[in-house]
Amino acid sequence: MRNFSKIDKSIMKVSKFLETFNIKNSGRPYPASKISNENLTQDEKKLVTNLMRVNHAGEVAAQGLYIGHALAAKSVEQREMMLEMASEEKDHLIWCNERIKELGGKPSIFDPLWLAGSVGLGILSSITNDRNALGFLEETEIQVADHLNSHLKRLPKNDVKTKIILEKMKSDEEKHSDTARQSGAREIPEKVKKIMEQTANIMKEVSFRI
Ligand SMILES: [Fe+2]
Ligand SMILES: [Fe+2]
Repeated sequence: MRNFSKIDKSIMKVSKFLETFNIKNSGRPYPASKISNENLTQDEKKLVTNLMRVNHAGEVAAQGLYIGHALAAKSVEQREMMLEMASEEKDHLIWCNERIKELGGKPSIFDPLWLAGSVGLGILSSITNDRNALGFLEETEIQVADHLNSHLKRLPKNDVKTKIILEKMKSDEEKHSDTARQSGAREIPEKVKKIMEQTANIMKEVSFRI
């Protein structure tokens, strides 16, 4: 019988949970497929693997958040909007996974934890009404786009593949925050924004390492 490592088991837990919600990807191709392999040193590869593990963890959390929002949505329109954005986030998840594989790395062992926590957060932030849920979502997407920008600045010059993936993801996240705003998002208090930032920082610190 095959023995699975802890990381393999954690990947299976996440896949099984996501399968039950049957969120399909939107079908867009891997943005870096046409770019030939770049020349990265071992240290550069290690850095990019760690950065992409953080982004993969973020996309696992995005699946959880949007599932939580869809579960607690008060209107059919809101639920559909959440599921549509979740399917674009699924593209991101697949792209990050692909890039990690190309670099010979593994996703975060704590992915099941990020997933469970973010489903809870999605439900909690949707509990009052749809406009508050959209406010939380808008702020999340603004913070994610800022974060991706910081990773773009840290990439090795030769790593065109990761650059293209992160740029595409960033433009989607900006679109998601615009959609939330235009759909009536209510701005959330500064104090909550700060807590969101600090919580995300814990996830980033941990998934950068393991
Ligand atoms: Fe995303
Ligand atoms: Fe997004």
